[in-house]
Amino acid sequence: MAIKIDSIFEPYTFTAGLKVENRVMMAPMTTSSSDANGDVTDDELKYYHRRAKSGVGAVITACAHVEPLGIGFPNAFGADSDERIESLARLADAIHEGGAKAILQIYHAGRMSNSKLLNGEQPISASDIPSVRPNAETPREMSAAEIEESIRAFGEATRRAIKAGFDGVEIHGANTYLIQQFFSPHSNRRTDKWGGDVMERMAFPLAVVESIQEAVAKYAEKPFVVGYRLSPEEREEPGITMEDTLKFAAALADKGIDYLHASVGKFFGGSIREEDSRSRVVMLQEHVGDRIPVIGVGGLQTVDQVKEALDVTPFVSLGHALIMDPDWLLKVKKSQEQEIYQALYLSKKDELDIPDDLWDTIVNIPGWFKIED
Ligand SMILES: Cc1cc2nc3c(=O)[nH]c(=O)nc-3n(C[C@H](O)[C@H](O)[C@H](O)COP(=O)(O)O)c2cc1C
Repeated sequence: MAIKIDSIFEPYTFTAGLKVENRVMMAPMTTSSSDANGDVTDDELKYYHRRAKSGVGAVITACAHVEPLGIGFPNAFGADSDERIESLARLADAIHEGGAKAILQIYHAGRMSNSKLLNGEQPISASDIPSVRPNAETPREMSAAEIEESIRAFGEATRRAIKAGFDGVEIHGANTYLIQQFFSPHSNRRTDKWGGDVMERMAFPLAVVESIQEAVAKYAEKPFVVGYRLSPEEREEPGITMEDTLKFAAALADKGIDYLHASVGKFFGGSIREEDSRSRVVMLQEHVGDRIPVIGVGGLQTVDQVKEALDVTPFVSLGHALIMDPDWLLKVKKSQEQEIYQALYLSKKDELDIPDDLWDTIVNIPGWFKIED
C-alpha cells in the first residue's frame, strides 16, 4: 500500500519518552572538520544547524570517539574527556536551535585506526588480526582490563552527552569499528569470556549497551534515547552473517534499546556475502520491527524513494541527500520536490554550508557523490 506524504510528517514518541516531529533523520556523517583538540568548529555548527533547520526530526551526529585510542579520522570531534563537554554542548545547541532533536553517535575505531592518527601508538582490537584493506596495521589485542575500561568509556561518553544537552546517543556498532570487531568472527578470535560462538561474541556490545543504560538511568533528567547501529553483514570469511545479525538484533531488542539503525549502502539491496537479493533492512524490520523501530538507510534521495522505504520501516535516515541539499525536507514540505538537488553542484558551494574539509574529501573521492558543475 502506498504511503501518504503526510506520514513523513507523522510524529513519533520513543519508549524513552522522546518525541520527534517526523520520520526523517539526518544520517551520521563524519565531517573531518574539528579542531586539533577534538572540539567542533564554527563551520561544523553552521553545517548542522542548517540541516536541522530544514525540519528533520533528529540529527544523528558524526561519530565521536569515546577514548583517545578510538580515534579513526583526522580532525574528528571527541566525547572522550570532560574537557569536550563545552564543545558537545555547542553542537547540541546548534541542532536544537534548528528545531531538531540531537543524537550523538559514539564509537571506538579499534583496528580501523592507524598509528599516525594515534600519535605513534598501535591500534587496539579484540584480537591481533588486521582488517582486510590496503596498508592495514596489525592491532594489539586488548587486555581484559582494557576491555572493561572501554565499556566504562562508553558510559562516560554518554554522561558527557547528557551534560551537553543531547537527546540521545547512538552506539556505533557498525561499519567495521571496535564494537563490530567484537561481534565479528574475523576480528574476534578470543577464547576468554569476550569471544567464542555468536552468543559469546555479543558479550562486549551488550556490555556497552548496559554501561550506557546505567549512565542514562543515573544522569538523565529528561527523555534520552539509546539507539544502536549495526552492519548486518561482513564480506570477510569468516564474517558476520545475516543469521548472526538476526540473533543479535533480538538480543538488542531484549535489552530495551530505543531503536535499531541499519547501516547498508542500499535500502532495498540484498546480501553482500551470498546470492540472496532479499533486502537486509526489510529482514531486520520483519525480525524485530514489532518490538523496536528500525531506521532504514541507503541510497534514498527522491521523495518517492523515501516514501517507498517508509512503507517498510518507521524511520529513514538520509546521508548523501542532505549533504547535496540541506533543504531537502523543507522543499518537500513546500511541495517543491522537483527543486531538490540530486547532485553535489560545485557552483552552489557557497549556499550549501558544507565545511571545507568535508567538501574537499567528497570531491576528491571519485564516484562517491554525483558531482555536477
Ligand atoms: C561523508 C560521510 C560520512 C559518513 N560518516 C559516518 C559516520 O560517522 N558514522 C556512520 O555510522 N556512518 C557514516 N556514514 C554512512 C552514512 O551514515 C550512511 O549510512 C550512508 O551514507 C548511506 O546512506 P545515504 O545513501 O543516504 O548516504 C557516512 C557517510 C558519508 C557520505
